[in-house]
Amino acid sequence: MCGIVGAIAERNVTAILVEGLKRLEYRGYDSAGVTLLDNHGRLERRRRLGKVSELAHALQEQPLAGKLGIAHTRWATHGAPSEANAHPHFSGEQVAVVHNGIIENHEVLRERLIGLGYVFTSQTDTEVIAHLLHHTLKELPDIADALKATVKQLHGAYGLAAICMAQPDRLVAARSGSPLVIGLGLGENFLASDQLALRQVTDRFVYLEEGDIAEIRRESVQIWDASGAVVQRENVQYHEGAEAADKGIYRHFMLKEIHEQPKVVQRTLEGRLGQNQVLVQAFGPQAAELFAKVRNVQIVACGTSYHAGMVARYWLEELASIPCQVEVASEFRYRKVMVQPDTLFVSISQSGETADTLAALRNAKQMGYLGSLAICNVGISSLVRESDLTLLTQAGPEIGVASTKAFTTQLVALMLLTLSLGQVHGTLAPAQEALLVEELRRLPVRLGEALAMDTTVEHISELFAEKHHTLFLGRGAQFPVAMEGALKLKEISYIHAEAYPAGELKHGPLALVDSDMPVVTVAPNNELLEKLKSNLQEVRARGGELIVFADAEANFTDEVGVHVVAMPHIIDALAPILYTVPLQLLSYYVAVLRGTDVDQPRNLAKSVTVE
Ligand code: M6R
Repeated sequence: MCGIVGAIAERNVTAILVEGLKRLEYRGYDSAGVTLLDNHGRLERRRRLGKVSELAHALQEQPLAGKLGIAHTRWATHGAPSEANAHPHFSGEQVAVVHNGIIENHEVLRERLIGLGYVFTSQTDTEVIAHLLHHTLKELPDIADALKATVKQLHGAYGLAAICMAQPDRLVAARSGSPLVIGLGLGENFLASDQLALRQVTDRFVYLEEGDIAEIRRESVQIWDASGAVVQRENVQYHEGAEAADKGIYRHFMLKEIHEQPKVVQRTLEGRLGQNQVLVQAFGPQAAELFAKVRNVQIVACGTSYHAGMVARYWLEELASIPCQVEVASEFRYRKVMVQPDTLFVSISQSGETADTLAALRNAKQMGYLGSLAICNVGISSLVRESDLTLLTQAGPEIGVASTKAFTTQLVALMLLTLSLGQVHGTLAPAQEALLVEELRRLPVRLGEALAMDTTVEHISELFAEKHHTLFLGRGAQFPVAMEGALKLKEISYIHAEAYPAGELKHGPLALVDSDMPVVTVAPNNELLEKLKSNLQEVRARGGELIVFADAEANFTDEVGVHVVAMPHIIDALAPILYTVPLQLLSYYVAVLRGTDVDQPRNLAKSVTVE
């Protein structure tokens, strides 16, 4: 959720730290701070409430310089967003700490440290780490040794970095439940919670594993695992271009990412389709053998990724005849689950670091599932590392907090899973698979056609500018698409939006409908169309204004109170992917009209690494 950057070099690292924070700002943006060991050997700090630009401004007015430093952008958990609660946190102006995650036993530790004479200046859980480290340094003067002893007393999740006035030649870090990566330079080294922050300075990375402690010097890096043994972690070269860090011609990352969908869907399909079939080995060499044993699928995910899982349930049951259950990870992880024999556990996540999804996977591994598959956008994420099988969505880094291209590529990956299971089990006729493979190949073009409706959707968005509530309706696999549309709208425009299966309307929500409540519907031309039309009549009869994204041949007519947007024709199975696009555009343009912060909506963060 929060972002960490650290650096040790022979040059002033202030600009590197601030640039790193800017690149991580999508993860948290309540406040930001930086600490440098200055040329007089003192720890100097600047912290500001609000965005990284506020911090950058403060640094212009009161510059800081140093060759060793740590920095942080915060998403508040313990203590309100404020300058006092912003990281780095100090102990005695000798130790500085930045931290992502939650220290669950912070209250007990705080009491103990107060008893030892420490004075707290913030309400954060992080400050206990600074004082604890400071206290431990009295017994163990080497900061790496002191950190090893300190983290043994912490319960909860952390990715943390620390520097100390007495040891100006090193930066130390610890990972447990919150990712950290070391960036390798020439005569300089770096640290961050996401490699994205360091792509300006290096393309060589070492990913810390759970329980690792690292000591980072200018010329060397030393890592100890959870048992205290020195370990070598793989050195990874990052190949992807710098496309993500830049908005290009677009006003917001979200709009850029919406428009990238044809390209990234194409990429997600690449190397995974044979002439008439999905290549099952795309899921890994042992996938065919494992898939042959699968009799049920359990999908677990959060937010947008959960909606992708809900669409997949319709596909798996209808096309592959495999029973499927879908659940949000935060519920799944605390429920006593009765595992059906031969069930494949599938987790879906853009980041691969979502705390609830990761915890659900870890629980599942103790529960007798047949195996685990991660559908994920980040190849080096914890979720991928800890799953038996992986299918990477090739969406590229997603910066906008509102997930867009990650969702459509997840749907593509889940369709590949459906076809693979259907193929391996013989439940999907080869001709049907061949047809779907052909349609998947055409999907990028169809998505391009849907994106061409950009201006039409922008006009429609004006209907929402003054509204406070909306309803999204869909039937069948379009119901989760409606849910995703409602999530997007509420997330970035702050308009209250709810999604319902259209057939449920008359069981309650119809009472809400009046001329102030626009109702958005996705209506492909399928066997549920006539039923959907009857549901929409119920809305019109109550004076509700309808916005219908409908197949060009679905016979909807534009009239007073009914705004119809004709969608390109697409095979019904792939309609959820296509119909997502206008809903993304709609929420985007409504948010722009309302003047909200599209890429960094209030109270949210991109990667939810706390429970
Ligand atoms: O990284 P993940 O896919 O695991 O994240 C799950 C949700 O936090 C995420 O999809 C969230 O709902 C998005 N902000 C929605 O746009």
